[in-house]
Order: sequence, then C-alpha cells, then structure tokens
Amino acid sequence: MSILYDEATRIFHLQTEHSSYQMQVGPYGSLLHLYYGPRVEDGLGHLYTPKERGFSGNPADTGNDRTFSFDTAPQEYSCFGGADYRTACLEAVSAQGAGDLDLRYASHRTGKGKPALPGLPHVYFGEDEGETLVVILRDEARQVEVELFYSVLPGYDAITRHAVIHNRGREALFLERALSCQLDMAGMGYDLITFWGKHCLERQPARTPVRHGKITAESVRGTSSHQQNPFVILCEQGTGEEQGECWGLSFAYSGNFLAGAEVDQLGNTRVFMGIHPQGFRWQVKGGGAFVTPEVILCHSSQGLGGLSRQYHRLLRERLCRGEYKLARRPILINNWEATYFDFTGEKLLKIAEEAASLGVEMLVMDDGWFGARKDDYRGLGDWVVNEAKLGMTLDQLVKGINALGLKFGIWFEPEMVNEDSDLYRAHPDWCFRTPGRAPGRSRNQLVLDMGRAEVRDYVFDAMSAVLNSAHVEYVKWDMNRHLANVWSAALPPERQGEAYHRYVLGVYELMERFVTAFPHILLEGCSGGGGRFDAGILYYSPQIWCSDNTDAVDRIRIQYGTSFGYPISAVGSHVSAVPNHQTGRVTPLSLRGDVAFCGTFGYELDVSKLSEGEKAEIREQTAFYKKHYFTINQGDYYRLTDPGISQPYAAWQVVNREKGSALLFYARLSAQGNEAGVRLKLQGLVPEKRYHIHGTGLTLTGNTLMAAGLEMPFFQGDNQSIVWEIEEV
Ligand code: DGJ
Repeated sequence: MSILYDEATRIFHLQTEHSSYQMQVGPYGSLLHLYYGPRVEDGLGHLYTPKERGFSGNPADTGNDRTFSFDTAPQEYSCFGGADYRTACLEAVSAQGAGDLDLRYASHRTGKGKPALPGLPHVYFGEDEGETLVVILRDEARQVEVELFYSVLPGYDAITRHAVIHNRGREALFLERALSCQLDMAGMGYDLITFWGKHCLERQPARTPVRHGKITAESVRGTSSHQQNPFVILCEQGTGEEQGECWGLSFAYSGNFLAGAEVDQLGNTRVFMGIHPQGFRWQVKGGGAFVTPEVILCHSSQGLGGLSRQYHRLLRERLCRGEYKLARRPILINNWEATYFDFTGEKLLKIAEEAASLGVEMLVMDDGWFGARKDDYRGLGDWVVNEAKLGMTLDQLVKGINALGLKFGIWFEPEMVNEDSDLYRAHPDWCFRTPGRAPGRSRNQLVLDMGRAEVRDYVFDAMSAVLNSAHVEYVKWDMNRHLANVWSAALPPERQGEAYHRYVLGVYELMERFVTAFPHILLEGCSGGGGRFDAGILYYSPQIWCSDNTDAVDRIRIQYGTSFGYPISAVGSHVSAVPNHQTGRVTPLSLRGDVAFCGTFGYELDVSKLSEGEKAEIREQTAFYKKHYFTINQGDYYRLTDPGISQPYAAWQVVNREKGSALLFYARLSAQGNEAGVRLKLQGLVPEKRYHIHGTGLTLTGNTLMAAGLEMPFFQGDNQSIVWEIEEV
C-alpha cells in the first residue's frame, strides 16, 4: 500500500520506498500540507499548531476562533481572494465578477494505478506499480470543485500531481490562474536551483538561497524556452552532489510556465509550479472542467546526484514511450552543419556512403528539402519534396541511402510558416496575428495557430504524404521561434486568453497523432536546439536536440546542466567540424567524441572532408559507442565535477545497472604550466567488487576507487580528454 488514510486523525500518508508525503484534513475542512521528506512511519499531525497572527484574517465559519487562517496554514492547494496573501494556485472570477475562492475538503477516493491525462503528457504506470489518491475540495458558494490528483510510484520514489477544476454551477467561470501544485515546506533553510539559459547555452544551474519574498523561473515565450527550464530543485542549504535532502519539480508541459519559491512572513517556504498566469484566462462553462498539466515530484536524501538518477530512470522508463524508448538508437549523421541549405540528393548520398564506412547507421536530411526553401526566408509550411533541388524523388534518395546500409531520417518544422510560402498565401489567417497589426517575425517566420483543428489537419496530412512516400525511419521536429502577437482568429474575444495553452494542446494532439500513425519512426524533438527540452516533449519523443551549440567545451556545460533533470538517453549530441561553427573554437576530435558519447551520439559534419586519420578515429568512436550504448544510456550517471566557466577540468561517469562496468570521462579544458595533479573519486561502484581500469594496468576494489580515487593523467595543451573503461574482474 502506498496510500494510507487514518480515519481518526484524517491524515493521508503517501509512501514511496524512501519518501513520505503527508497531508491532513485540518480545522474547518482545510487541507493541510504536513510533510514531504525522508520516509517516516508515524502520522505527523503534531507538526501543525494553529495560532492567532495579526493581519492574517479568519474565514467566516471560524466564529470567535482567531487561530485559524489560510494565510498561515500550510496548504495543499491555495486560492486567491480569501485571506491567503501568498502565491496562490487558483484564482477564478465568477460570472458576477466575484474573485474570491474558499476551498474545503469534501471527499476523497483512491484507486490502483494511475489514470491517463487525456491530451496531456504524463507519467504512466500499471495497477501493480502504484496508486492514485484524489482529494476533492469544494467551494459551496461559488460551486467550484477541485480534484487534486496524487499518483504514487513507490519504486521510483516519485509522486505526480495535477488538479482538475470543475465548474459545478450554471454560469461561466473564468480561471485567471490555475497552477498544478504547491508544496508548503516548513522553514526557510533551502536553496532553489533553477536552470537559466539562452540559445546556444541552455540549462545552466543557478542556486539561490530562498529568502523572504519570491524567486521564480518562468517563461512567457509560448514554449518552455531556452531561457528558463520548467524543472527546479529545492534543497537544503548543505545539500551537495552526494548527500543531503532535495526535492525536484518537473513540469510535464512545454508552454508558458511559472515555478518558484516564496518565503512568507513566518519564515515558511511555499514552492509552486504551473501554467504561467500571464496571458492566461480560461473560460470554464457551467458543468465544464479544466485540467492542469502534471508536475512530477521526486525527493532524495542522496543529494543532487541521487535526485538526478531518480529522474533519469523515471523519465526514461515511465514517461518516454514508443519502440525506441529502451532500444538502441542509430548513430546518425545530420547534414545541417555539413551543407546547411546547399545540398542535392547526390551530395547526401556521398556523405552517406562515406559515413556508412565509418560505422554510422542513419543519414538525416535537415532543413531545405521542401517547397522553395533555399534559405530561411521562404518555404516553411510547404511540405512538398523539392525534387528539382534533390535531383530525384524522396523515394529514390531513401532507396539509395538504404542500399548503403543506412536508415533515413528527415527534418520538419510543423508549427511554422513563412510569408513567402503557398501555405501562407492560401491561409494568411492561420498564423497568430492580432487585429490591425502585422505580426512580428523571428527568423523571418510566423507561428501557426496550432489550436485550430484545420491547421493541424493540414500539417498532419502534408507530413504524412511525405512520410508515406518513402521508407523514413526518423523525424526531427523543430520549432525555431517563440510566440508573439498571440491572438486566434478562431476564438471569440472572451476566449483569447486560452490561445497560448490551446497552442500547446494542439501541438500535443498533433504529436500524439504522429506517434500513433508512425509508431516505427524515431522522433527527435528540437527547438533551435534545446528551447523546448522538457518532460512534456519527452512523452512524444524519447530524445531532444540538446543545443544548437555543438562546441565540445560549451557542450560539457550544457549537458552538465541538462543532466540534473533529464536522462542521458534524451540528450541529442553530435560531433561537429572544427573550427566550431558557433564558437570558432578548435578542439580535438577525441574531446568532441567523448562529450557527444553522453547522449544520442551522432555526427554533423562533411565526412568527405576528413583525413584518413580522422576517419580511423571515427571508426573507433562508433564502435566504442555501440559497445557501451546501454551503460551510457541506461546506466547511472554521476557528475564528478562542476564544469563552471572558470573550471580547468571536467569529469563525469556512468555505471551500468549491474554495477559491473563503468566509464570515467575526464576532460582537461585549459592547460597550465607546472600543472597540479587531479585526483577523482569514483561513484556508484560495489565496494567489495574488484575492477580493472583498462589502459592503466590497475585492478582495484570499488571501495578503493570510491574512497581514494584515481590520479588523472597530465596532458599537453587545452581540451584534452580521456575515457577509462572500468570493468569488474
Ligand atoms: C535549428 C536546429 O536546432 C538545427 O539543428 C537545424 O535543424 C536548423 N534549425 C535548421 O533550420
């Protein structure tokens, strides 16, 4: 049993293998948050003591009792308009214009397994793996009912949360804010770790002590964005990689989001996550309901590393889907940085021929194969193969690639349109634009209103026609701008506040249709690199292009930050040419390979321009990756150093699930005269087992390797790296 309810104390206790989450039906039917942390066995009702506080008002039914206030009580789902002045989960305005809500416990139910969230990405698990609790809160006066869903997955130490807001009245209700969850944590001795970024430098961790007031991570760009990621960690101030308490909140959503922590007047911390209220106003008709997206919660007492490994396993095994979820993904070569728009079918066949001899398994034809797309000013939306440019049909090209022993993949950008396209000329109203104003461009493109069924139908039919015309085994789904001037020609004025969320729901609907119709195709998400790298997209595509920055040194930092919340199997990473196209930096092929190994390995360069020596090295790389694929992608990942901007070296490690083999990656980024030695302690091995470290002549116990560590070699020059294969003897 993972959900316990004690009738006498009215305490709900959600238990995973290592964590406990408790809430209680408290005074006046309030739903109090009691605890989320390491597993305990006792009920924790003693942790809440009502007390009168000045300027924290009391609900009407408390009479002369001035000790209970929503402003000071730790809650599960707070609302605006009563006397809780902290960040609220829910704000709704009635048809009469009343904007206060007052939610009290009404009932609850439990069930085995986890119900699906139709139309939204979500963690899934079977009836024998966990349980779901639904607590129903009700506001009698406003006839609003909120169902709070808690699904408990004990084996993964995970709890998922979302809310369904029902309008039980006859008249419309307007949601101004509908977050997915909050955690009212006792005290304020925490740090909040958020992940900021920009195009070409995504997901950089920023750790900030929580303080009176708020810290937030948010996006109002219409997508989860490069700039902030919808994954945050709350941790105790002493928590490090290997020890300490931490809690993760991962939002299975790819649009505008708000996440953050607020310390209140009494020094307690409220953490919250959900759809960003800015630009959001959702009309719920009488009898209707609104479903919030899911937040995936994990707690770990094993530090940030332990928390990351929990998320890696959970997202990989219980969020990602499809044939490629746990299967080895093909090593690919993508022609983008090799040719940009300047390619023909012949050129691609030449790249494929060379790549096949190097151990590469798939060629991906990137942007530029359709309509009049000779540059990024035109063609988006016209998903018709440009046979004149290719010099052949798609089928002929794919047959040629397949004959070389390679699979074939193709690029799309389904959500976008150029004004210079047949699609735009036929349907100028299909893109977002506000009345009386020409829409702003970004990369010279406009955004299709994916909330509209006819737009999705067109895109789906056009994509399907291409995919059915040849043996395509991979699709890269790109998205190269953020939303602006959002207004939908298909919605009435009172529903315009729904356009952002309807866009995301539309994208999900299209992706679902795609994965259902093409179950054998490996889908890779992308948004100008890692601009939509979130748990929502991973429900549809098990891998996402991590960044448009392929520079190995920058990639160490980008992949480091990404690893906090996302599995290695999700990280699209390629070896590209030097000087690197984004930074101009020249790094050895060995470093580029060692960095790209920790992801869905591939190449993005013109292999016909390589020397024989480089080709030999690439053959070794592809063989190495195939040999170690499952250790890297399904093993446990350890961050051994923080490769911050000024750090001279970086190290990371993977250990297979059986703990019988491991890989230690060490990169010396900047050389120094009279260099000091670097000693690294390994992690995740079995203390009693003996391991051989290939290439060193050393055989040592796991205990020695973890307690005393290994001395790293000295290198000459910047950006040198080594991978040590470590195997149980
Ligand atoms: C952005 C992607 O991240 C790149 O890899 C490439 O596909 C370009 N778009 C093509 O326009």
